[in-house]
Amino acid sequence: MAEARFTFPKNFLWGTATAAHQVEGGNTNNNWYAWELGGRVRPGHHAGQACDWWGGRWREDFDRAAASGQNAHRFSVEWSRIQPAPDKWDEAALAHYAEMARGLRARGMEPMVTLHHFTDPLWVYEYGGWERDWAETFERYVEKVVQALKGDVRLWITFNEPNVYVAAGYVLGVFPPGKKSLQAAGWVMANISRAHAAAYTAIHRLQPEARVGLAHHYRGMEPARPWFPPDRWVTRFQSHEFNEAFPGVAATGRLRTPLGRVRVPQARGTQDFFGLNYYTEELVRFAPLAVGELFSQRQYRPGAVMSENGFLALEPEGFYRALHWASRFGLPIMVTENGVEDAADVLRPLYLVGHIRQMWRAANFNWKVEGYFHWSLVDNFEWERGWSQRFGLWALDNATQQRTRRPSGDLYEEICRENALSSEMVARYAPEVFAEMFPNE
Ligand code: FCB
Repeated sequence: MAEARFTFPKNFLWGTATAAHQVEGGNTNNNWYAWELGGRVRPGHHAGQACDWWGGRWREDFDRAAASGQNAHRFSVEWSRIQPAPDKWDEAALAHYAEMARGLRARGMEPMVTLHHFTDPLWVYEYGGWERDWAETFERYVEKVVQALKGDVRLWITFNEPNVYVAAGYVLGVFPPGKKSLQAAGWVMANISRAHAAAYTAIHRLQPEARVGLAHHYRGMEPARPWFPPDRWVTRFQSHEFNEAFPGVAATGRLRTPLGRVRVPQARGTQDFFGLNYYTEELVRFAPLAVGELFSQRQYRPGAVMSENGFLALEPEGFYRALHWASRFGLPIMVTENGVEDAADVLRPLYLVGHIRQMWRAANFNWKVEGYFHWSLVDNFEWERGWSQRFGLWALDNATQQRTRRPSGDLYEEICRENALSSEMVARYAPEVFAEMFPNE
């Protein structure tokens, strides 16, 4: 039997990622609660108590993460709790998050904190959301958080997946505020870029040693017919529109929106590392009649292995391409999310070994990959899809709050502890892909 061992650089961060609204429970002062009340989340599904982290169950989940060899965790703080009204700060909420950060340190884990993960306070949302310029307001909030947490937190993410936030909320209409307006999308993009820049500067002012980034969602796109120039052209165009705008503005200060260019000079050079969220890749073909879809049609590769609800295709090589793309920005890379919905845990082991092997390939090209945060630690509330998607290394029983470790939790523990993936682990956890990963000739 072939034997191999894919070892990662020293001090590599291995963890999982979560977000406040998805795990805390009881968030009733933000746009997602309004969205849920408005019946826009899968019928019968409520964030409700979620994983009860606000009630204190973060402790037991951090215990689980630490006991299974993870040395880092990415979580988010909820703006609407910290600043429940424009003129009101909740010190107890800040203390709660400071305790969580301390709790990670005490367990030997490096905290990474996201300041904005899809949710906005109701008072922001009802006053036009990010179609308005909240940069100064956001900066005050960020200052509060940094002052409270900087003793334990050095790694910050300003915004999670701003491209998904804009596309889902202002183009597709499936996230709040449910608009389909390219003009509004353009304003929101510009305002988020301004707020990110203000946050970046404020964090460094208060904590010079901080490392600040964005979590960019990269959707892999490949031409359906590589030999057909229009497919190549439309793929490049789509990928550029969706993937490049925010990395672009954070690198150059120039933002490309669907309706034109905007200069945000203060955003130039505002990333200390490149946060990359990668889930899947799809094929794009030129479709001259699809005006609304910008003359393209997107589909998963025929024959690809699909996740439980058909939400994503298993495309580990797309992860390699995503890392290659990210490496071009010349920054250290943190994989801030990667994972698969899979209640039965039949695909997750394949997903994990496949993606981690591709990440190792990237590290071997000396692309500076410094960490990997699997989405997610425990099943949590998946936005408009509610509880229908199960991304956790631990399963959650919503009725009892009981957690059950999935086999992938064991596999991930071995990877974290050994700072490596071995062929022997693949043979035990994902024998289906062994021959493909370690061909004999
Ligand atoms: C990402 C989000 C995260 C989670 C995963 C499955 O787009 O950042 O909150 O919903 O997808």
